[in-house]
Amino acid sequence: MNIRENAPLQPATGTSPPVAEVVHDQRGRPLRDLRISVTDRCNFRCPYCMPRAVFGSGYPYLKRAELLSFEEIIRIVRIFTGLGVRKIRLTGGEPLLRQDLHKLVAQLAELPGIELALTTNGALLGQQARALKAAGLDRVTVSLDALDDPTFRAMNDVDFPVAGVLEGIEAALAAGLAPLKINMVVKRGTNDHAVLPMARHFRNSGIMLRFIEYMDVGNANGWRLEDVVPSAELTALIGNEFPIEPVSPAYPGEVAERWRYRDGAGEIGFISSVTKAFCGDCNRLRLSIEGALFTCLFAHQGHDLRTLLRSGADDAALASDLRALWQAREDRYSELRGRTGIPLRKIEMSYIGG
Ligand code: GTP
Ligand code: 5AD
Ligand code: SF4
Ligand code: SF4
Repeated sequence: MNIRENAPLQPATGTSPPVAEVVHDQRGRPLRDLRISVTDRCNFRCPYCMPRAVFGSGYPYLKRAELLSFEEIIRIVRIFTGLGVRKIRLTGGEPLLRQDLHKLVAQLAELPGIELALTTNGALLGQQARALKAAGLDRVTVSLDALDDPTFRAMNDVDFPVAGVLEGIEAALAAGLAPLKINMVVKRGTNDHAVLPMARHFRNSGIMLRFIEYMDVGNANGWRLEDVVPSAELTALIGNEFPIEPVSPAYPGEVAERWRYRDGAGEIGFISSVTKAFCGDCNRLRLSIEGALFTCLFAHQGHDLRTLLRSGADDAALASDLRALWQAREDRYSELRGRTGIPLRKIEMSYIGG
């Protein structure tokens, strides 16, 4: 058995967590981070994620009975906290489209020792930020791919104005959803001209801007290696205008490589899954809205938990199923990218979240 019982854990926030096992996978990686998709729908159609040609009218979204209920999600999370999970991230699709999301947040916030974050496109944040904070959400990460309106409207492909997202960011800051991070996916020839304006805008703001290499997630986006802007190119571009230096990771398994402006204007991050894979300490598990678990963002098949959950299994049976799943895990897709023999059918990002 690959379990270290009662290993010391750093509580994330709030009261102390229950004493938990730390479960390790086949490559010695502990389970720490659970990402929960609360809807497969989105009000944007970013071409790198939900291209209209695939996600237009007639796309078969899931029906309500197929979705996990809030009670089912809470039960699963409670069991996972006993297996070492300390960070929960709510994702989508666009999570703010899930009805009564604040009620789920309130129940999750009651679980001790869990850091609770959410990734959103920001369009509905202005309306919901205060209620989410009041319910117990700790922080948000907002996706924003450009500051100039024509580029932003083209990148969301629903003609949503950038001002709406900037208002959402302001509302989140005013509500105290901090530290706030911005995720910018950079696609060559599409929004690479927006990198420097974004860097300039978020300097001295206390907000951490992170640049994400465009990834080959799913099969819908027609990904090509030529469209990826390597992070090394961006550090050179930004460093040329504002001297920057690397910062050591804040915690093991941190996704973004952090850099700071030498003049003290803050930090920026680079998420370089294509040019510098970070599978070595990947501690993330993803729960889909219909109760399937994915041990990798690039998996082609999930592990069906919903059937066991709805068959009347007790918590001990569920825990042993989840423990076995993590212990069997070998995934390291980004390290193997491009080699033959890896699955060509992959799960879509909008189904499993970021
Ligand atoms: P915090 O550090 O807790 O704020 O979150 P995070 O760094 O995990 O960041 P976030 O959830 O905002 O993820 C940012 C983006 O990184 C995602 O939208 C994905 O594009 C990418 N990403 C996150 N996790 C993984 C992963 O496990 N594998 C790969 N290849 N990409 C990932
Ligand atoms: N490559 C990199 N990041 C992506 N995201 C969605 N699709 C991709 C992709 N192909 C990111 C979004 C958002 C999060 C939900 O996932 O920018 O931050
Ligand atoms: Fe929606 Fe986010 Fe995907 Fe864009 S990246 S389509 S906002 S889920
Ligand atoms: Fe983890 Fe898979 Fe991403 Fe590698 S590619 S970091 S194993 S989710």
